[in-house]
Amino acid sequence: MNVNFLNLLLTVILAFFFDTEALSPHYYDHTCPKADQIVTNAVKKAMANDKTVPAALSRMHFHDCFIRGCDASVLLDSKGKNKAEKDGPPNISLHAFYVIDNAKKALEEQCPGVVSCADIVSLAARYAVALSGGPTWEVPKGRKDGKVSKAIETRQLPAPTFNISQLRQSFGQRGLSMHDLVVLSGITDFPYT
Ligand SMILES: *[C@@H]1O[C@H](CO)[C@@H](O)[C@H](O)[C@H]1NC(C)=O
Ligand SMILES: *[C@@H]1O[C@H](CO)[C@@H](O)[C@H](O)[C@H]1NC(C)=O
Repeated sequence: MNVNFLNLLLTVILAFFFDTEALSPHYYDHTCPKADQIVTNAVKKAMANDKTVPAALSRMHFHDCFIRGCDASVLLDSKGKNKAEKDGPPNISLHAFYVIDNAKKALEEQCPGVVSCADIVSLAARYAVALSGGPTWEVPKGRKDGKVSKAIETRQLPAPTFNISQLRQSFGQRGLSMHDLVVLSGITDFPYT
């Protein structure tokens, strides 16, 4: 066995063992190097036609992460008796799901079955904020898509009627600070104003 082969083997074995654990900004470097670019393009294209897209995407990410973590459970449709998050009362202000669908479609053409919807939602929200003149941040990738989505759990989202102590508590339970609360409220309450 030559050294290159050993290296390759080691990489494959490591990838196998760490696949389910480590999120990394380089997660798709080998399997789908254009992933970031493809998601950016989908967001840019949608923004050009609809100025509410950035707010919608960051709000979608927020709604997704608040319930069961950032696992794209917000995208799942209701099935049989199960009413999904999408159909919970706070869904009224959620839209722009088509941007995620378009990004997913373009990604499937390039690298089928590789990029999770959870990563697409996270990336789309980051670009939406950055492309609107907000800050940018590194998105660790490798999130797995959730299979459970329950409308009733949208009750865990902070209600528009919450007072400041209730808001602080609700955000605090998810490790979000007062600073996070103010920033996220500014961005995600756009559809109410
Ligand atoms: C929101 O939920 C209602 C039912 O509660 C449903 O009719 C509507 O299509 C949902 N909206 C979106 C954007 O999913
Ligand atoms: C916020 O609402 C909760 C629940 O109704 C109440 O117990 C609390 O005193 C309120 N806090 C403030 C600052 O109004």
